[in-house]
Amino acid sequence: MKKIQSLSGMMDLFKGSDISNSAENIFKVEKALKDIFISYNFSEIRTPALEETDLFKRSAGDISDIVNKEIYTFLDRNNKSISLRPEGTAGVVRSIIEKKQDSTTNKFWYIGPMWRYERPQKGRFRQFSQAGIEILGYEEGNSEYELMSLICNIINKLSIKKPTIKINHLGNPKTKKEYCDALVSYLRPYSNELSETELERLNKNPLKILDSKNENTQKILANGPSLQEFLPNENIKLINSLKDTFSEFCSIEIDYALVRGLDYYSGFVFEAVSDELGAQDAFLGGGRYDVLTEKLGGKELPAIGMAIGIERLSNISSLDNTEDNIVSFITITSNLEPKAFKIAHHLRSLNENINLDMNLSNSSLKSKLRRANKIGASHALIIGDEEIKNETILVKYLDDELTEQELVSYDDMYKFYKSL
Ligand code: HAM
Repeated sequence: MKKIQSLSGMMDLFKGSDISNSAENIFKVEKALKDIFISYNFSEIRTPALEETDLFKRSAGDISDIVNKEIYTFLDRNNKSISLRPEGTAGVVRSIIEKKQDSTTNKFWYIGPMWRYERPQKGRFRQFSQAGIEILGYEEGNSEYELMSLICNIINKLSIKKPTIKINHLGNPKTKKEYCDALVSYLRPYSNELSETELERLNKNPLKILDSKNENTQKILANGPSLQEFLPNENIKLINSLKDTFSEFCSIEIDYALVRGLDYYSGFVFEAVSDELGAQDAFLGGGRYDVLTEKLGGKELPAIGMAIGIERLSNISSLDNTEDNIVSFITITSNLEPKAFKIAHHLRSLNENINLDMNLSNSSLKSKLRRANKIGASHALIIGDEEIKNETILVKYLDDELTEQELVSYDDMYKFYKSL
């Protein structure tokens, strides 16, 4: 029979898997991020992984790579076109419109899987996890500062290696249009030097050409109009002030060529990169999206947000490796297990800082002790017929050097366990 394998670009994460170290790091990073989000008093939102395809078409933009080439789309049994979410913002906005929350303020966080049909490579997967923030209902200003504070906090608390936050401002719709017109007039004469994709962008979304990886295009652009010349003073002032305020905590660069891959941005945009990551160097990105809610059928609602690529972040974070405090509970005779389980149950209520590993197999004491050593337990609590009869338990120290053991009463064991 043909072996069934996981799909390309999709990982299994669990302790003991072939990428066990990164799996454990990913879980730790997720927990650390949740704690930071909660400390900023954001609340959690969960939206479905599947949505109507139109949601992503209308939000990310018809010509964005995400919608054009990367989206996982299916017809369901009712012939309705549905898609696996490639990102979280569209679902959050759909949800607040549906729940009539589009004229109030909200500060959300989320963590979950996203799907993009990209060519898998280092740091780029077809299923990956994002942790996101969406701040809804606030005009440009305070939320920009709050978001920058949050990003610097994440970078510092997770000891991110070699980070730089790149920031830019895309102006208001009027300046964006003036700049796009100037860019198009400048680039038209170079049409025969542009790729097919770049020509399509020139017609539909000229800003995206700034993102081109083509060396010749970048050379042409170097002499072209710069967004900076078109930006109103107040926009330049805002990004300068954000840089000045937070440079003490993080490395921040203004990058006037920074445009984002999704269509819904206007105003302040940013991306954080690390030299440690290689070609796929962005570990988070986001910006203001004041027109999206209206575009999706809701009210006019200013908003800003960001998403972090968990796998990439976990690769460059150095979280404290505080060891788990594990104690192994071993029963020698299986028919004694009900009593043993009662004792273990009581122990668990006495000290919640301990991971009590109940050995569930019917193997020999020797192999149970081997497992206890393997999982890094500091002690084994061993209980057999004699112990149950005398209301005692054997406490065995599993330190490499020491093989001490001690027979103690239940009460003494409870006291000892509490003190661990
Ligand atoms: P994005 O820049 O498309 O933004 O994605 C955010 C982050 O997700 C990237 O910086 C990267 O770290 C990670 N990422 C993206 N694609 C992949 C992939 N194929 N494999 C691994 N990691 C990946 C958004 O998704 C916006 N929704 C962010 C946002 C929220 N803007 C406003 N609110």
